[in-house]
Amino acid sequence: MNNTTKRWVFDTTVWTSAVMMTFVLLIHDVAAESRFPPVANDKWQAECGSCHIAYPPQLLPAASWRRVMSELDKHFGADASLDAASAAGIGAFLESNAARGKRAAVDAGTLRITEAPWFRREHREVAAPVWKGASVKTPANCGACHTTAERGDFSERGVRIPR
Ligand code: HEC
Ligand code: HEC
Repeated sequence: MNNTTKRWVFDTTVWTSAVMMTFVLLIHDVAAESRFPPVANDKWQAECGSCHIAYPPQLLPAASWRRVMSELDKHFGADASLDAASAAGIGAFLESNAARGKRAAVDAGTLRITEAPWFRREHREVAAPVWKGASVKTPANCGACHTTAERGDFSERGVRIPR
């Protein structure tokens, strides 16, 4: 091989590897589905992120969000009522970005992310006492273990189980 051919072979190999690595990373992220596209809505962030993290819309199907939004005055023992315009705006945002596919497979009437079959599946390795530990208290406290939950990132690398 002359030098030009060697150079060509080298360049092609490097570029092909780079492109393939990119695909592998992309496929990995898509398959994990644990980092949600940074959909944003200021009202949602402010109103639904004051008592707990603003749970990403992709975690519950549209029918569940509709029900959550229609019962805000009796919200898991709290009163999370909103004026009608805010509720309608946030509701539309949640429903249009709601879970699809396997994350949408929940029983009718499900209000809790933590009761969805996918949630149980993804968390089956978490031992029962961990959920009740002093720094976790409730499975709804995503941020106790998912250090990047505030940004909608639930990927494995952000998980730290508190002891
Ligand atoms: C006044 C405080 C408060 C506000 C404001 C609030 N929530 Fe909640 N929310 C709670 C409490 C308390 C729970 C129960 C947490 C637990 O089980 O430990 C909860 C639980 C939830 C759950 C179920 C979590 C699970 O899977 O167990 C969802 C979904 C939810 N809230 C959505 C919302 C949305 C959407 C908004 C905005 C419209 C909102 N919340 C605003 C207090 C609030
Ligand atoms: C007690 C700690 C803990 C709490 C609280 C918790 N998780 Fe997790 N979560 C984990 C662990 C551990 C895994 C498995 C990590 C792995 O190996 O992929 C996980 C996995 C996940 C995954 C799949 C990640 C992936 O890359 O496959 C999602 C999505 C997720 N959790 C969302 C949530 C949400 C939403 C909440 C709150 C409603 C929550 N988790 C609360 C510990 C926790």
